[in-house]
Amino acid sequence: MTHFPYIDGELHVEQVPVRRIAEAVGTPFYCYSTAALSDNYQAYVDTLGKLGVDVFYSLKANSNQAIIRTLGKLGAGADVVSVGEMYRALKAGIPAERIVFAGVGKTIDEMEAALKAGIYQFNVESFGELETLSDVASRLGVTAPVTLRINPDVDAKTHAKISTGKAENKFGIDIDHAAQFYSAAARMRGIRIVGLAVHIGSQLTDIAPYRAAFLKIAELAQTLRKAGLPVERIDLGGGIGIAYRAESTIDLKDYAALVQEIIAPLGTKIEIEPGRSIVGNAGLLVSRVINVKPGVSRKFVIVDAAMNDLIRPSLYDAYHDIIPIALPPSDAPVERCDVVGPICETGDRFAEQRPLPPVKPGDLVAFATAGAYGSVMSSTYNTRLPAAEVLVEGGRFDVVRPRPSYDHIIDLDRIPDWLA
Ligand code: LLP
Repeated sequence: MTHFPYIDGELHVEQVPVRRIAEAVGTPFYCYSTAALSDNYQAYVDTLGKLGVDVFYSLKANSNQAIIRTLGKLGAGADVVSVGEMYRALKAGIPAERIVFAGVGKTIDEMEAALKAGIYQFNVESFGELETLSDVASRLGVTAPVTLRINPDVDAKTHAKISTGKAENKFGIDIDHAAQFYSAAARMRGIRIVGLAVHIGSQLTDIAPYRAAFLKIAELAQTLRKAGLPVERIDLGGGIGIAYRAESTIDLKDYAALVQEIIAPLGTKIEIEPGRSIVGNAGLLVSRVINVKPGVSRKFVIVDAAMNDLIRPSLYDAYHDIIPIALPPSDAPVERCDVVGPICETGDRFAEQRPLPPVKPGDLVAFATAGAYGSVMSSTYNTRLPAAEVLVEGGRFDVVRPRPSYDHIIDLDRIPDWLA
């Protein structure tokens, strides 16, 4: 939390007091640190850049224009999984030739748009998709640069909902059919097969599954080359897991050593698509306590953020630190509380029986490590306005997504003629 210091007992983002932002924009809001973003991105470049690894920021983690622009200016490319994300990347200034299009179900319209834009690479996940892409590209008179995403059947040992590399998962081409599909791809009109892609899951905190997957990919690359097929690029998928509660995770240096040992000797271009580890710990969700309710068997702290703002605790039982904006005295008593939002669901709970210093209505708290898969997964459930988003840089801040008005949300609906 280097870029989230307490200064004179008040939480800051870089040099800006969180309280000042709360007064200016209201709560709840997401708040990101430019310095943290840039440090996280630079860590990848510093440790992996010398191995020729190219970083494509995974937009799905946080696709705010200001975040993409910040990373694009530092040199990042973009990993997108929909044409909507492609438009976001282009609009934020990422050139088409720095965009990789991944994802298990690209539609014909999406393929067409991406081919017309002239993106760098398609990561293809099935034989059917390969045939469709070949048809679409031929029709447009262009050639699609393609990697085949391989499912190596490796257990990433992460949460079941974000594990992607096992045979039973919907992702990738099973490794036993990979060589056959690869050589078919090499003969397809409209396709230029350039390499392999692999992504076994997100939030990996153990390096062993990466080793297992990389070994399988390296072996496959060699088999393909022996058969006279070109393998110019290897895409290693998402980034390493991050510490949500001071748990141990993978050291980027160890990850780099693995890439150096197993992948670099192939002499291909190497790509990586980190999202969470770039933006996760660069963001907070700031919320105000509405009420403190002494329930029958437990105490509830009801805050003005809810599962529509940050769904990770409800969806994955994810842990986010809850930190006070005003630092409590070191001898403040600690009490176990359930921290919940106002939504009409029991699952709208950020934390269960969490030890917290005393809080009262009106106090500000922050959910830490909320920069990734926070705002992007938000909704307007219960007709709640999505949280605003703020970017800090040094001593200044700006709203990078205002909170919409109720009219804005409600006026998206239409009354049909027969009800008018
Ligand atoms: N590349 C591919 C093909 C992916 O599927 C993903 C994440 C990434 C890259 C980026 O992975 P990262 O570096 O962020 O670990 N909503 C979930 C996470 C879903 C991840 C989906 N794929 C969460 O909140 O934990």
